[in-house]
Amino acid sequence: MNNTCAIILAGGKGTRMKSKKPKVLSEILFKPMLGYVIEACNKANVNDICVVTGFKYELVEEYLSSVGDFSIARQLEQKGTGHAVMMAKDFLLKNKGKDVLVLCGDAPLITHECIENSYKSHIENKNAITVVTACLEDAGNYGRICRNDDDTIKKIVERKDCTEEEVLIKEINSGVYWFNVDNLLDCLDKLTTNNSQGEYYLTDTLEITINSNKKVSAFVCEDTDIILGANSRKDLFELNEKMRLKVIDKHFENGVEFISLDGVYISPDAKIGCDTVIYPNTIIKENVVIGEDCKIGPSTLIQDSVIDDRVSLNQVQCYKSKVHHDTDIGPFVHIRPNSEIDHHVHIGDFVEVKNSFVGAGTGISHLTYVGDSDVGKNVNFGCGVVTVNYDGVNKHRCTIKDGAFIGCNTNLIAPVTIGENGYTGAGSTITDDVPDEALGIARAKQQIKKDFSTKKLAGRRKKV
Ligand code: UD1
Ligand code: CA
Repeated sequence: MNNTCAIILAGGKGTRMKSKKPKVLSEILFKPMLGYVIEACNKANVNDICVVTGFKYELVEEYLSSVGDFSIARQLEQKGTGHAVMMAKDFLLKNKGKDVLVLCGDAPLITHECIENSYKSHIENKNAITVVTACLEDAGNYGRICRNDDDTIKKIVERKDCTEEEVLIKEINSGVYWFNVDNLLDCLDKLTTNNSQGEYYLTDTLEITINSNKKVSAFVCEDTDIILGANSRKDLFELNEKMRLKVIDKHFENGVEFISLDGVYISPDAKIGCDTVIYPNTIIKENVVIGEDCKIGPSTLIQDSVIDDRVSLNQVQCYKSKVHHDTDIGPFVHIRPNSEIDHHVHIGDFVEVKNSFVGAGTGISHLTYVGDSDVGKNVNFGCGVVTVNYDGVNKHRCTIKDGAFIGCNTNLIAPVTIGENGYTGAGSTITDDVPDEALGIARAKQQIKKDFSTKKLAGRRKKV
């Protein structure tokens, strides 16, 4: 959409949210609401975006710089939605002759289809303003759309300024509009604060435009969810729930199986292959790709990771890592960032892997820490192995070559290398490299003290 640009209003404090954060940074499925609004614009090919920041602008601007390139208009005092758009005057002047989409940073369910279809209607009807509206059973605190007898739009009235009759109107203002830029610039000069909240209302531009005999119409949105905004924690919770079910629906369609939806939260960007089963209490955060025929959960959290086909993750937390096909992990396993677990690996209970490569066919079955290590193929870790990677100042790496057998309760004091098919005796603290095919054993030799306990435990009371 060549002749378009957008202004996203993100300056408000969101008093009703009772948060230290600006409202637009409140998250729905692990992403700030503002991020969803930006994404919808980008998907609709509206790429020239100005964001009006205000309350804690530094936080909003920091977020913006992490997701793209934007014009910023700061609104240092929040005097209403009309005032917010006035702050973007320079942006509008640069975009004269075009149409500008105005939307709220706190209404994250907006879709690119709605943006595209309302634009089409805006152009076809040659409107000066097109407002996106919806009809709600309970119009709540949304602005009401007042129409004339002939159904044309008369004005928008804010909830707080409604007469008793106007309160009953079911058609509401979504807060999304298309404006002809030149007309909007004219209107902004004419806004006043003559209303119950003493604010400059963007919504007053409709009446001003109509009074100057320009065309204003509504694009009525069938899907009433799209317009929902979050002004309170309860609203946020409800939006989160709607989005959660919408995302899960998409996966149902793609052939993903869910045993139950209890505690299942999946980021909208997740990709999951067919015949994968998701068990309860599974949280899949941003940037996750999961293959086919996997078993994920119960009680599993994955973020920023790639999980290949036929992987099982049972009670696992996995961050910034890659797990190759046919590997099974869990229960109670922590895969920390920068780990790569190759195919046909088995990782069992109470194991932590960090910043390490684990080669194909390797088994790390119980109670083991593998940190900063390069582990080869078909290695066997006994129970309770610890890579001692940190000397209090620096981190060092362990190298464990193919086929090695690490005895139970071995401490590998890094940097150290265990050669191919190398072996360590159980209970050893290995400080020096073990050559290929060799045994490294480092523990005190056993002594026997005969009849020791006869005297030592004499008189000991037994419970049963
Ligand atoms: C606004 C509309 C209302 C509509 C509703 C849809 C007005 C006067 N009212 O009401 O008709 O039904 O949105 O959600 O426009 N903001 C600023 N600076 C400000 C004030 C607000 O940037 O000075 C931003 C907020 O961060 C928010 C958006 O504008 O993203 C909407 O503000 P909000 O105060 O939530 O407006 P509503 O009362 O919901
Ligand atoms: Ca709002």
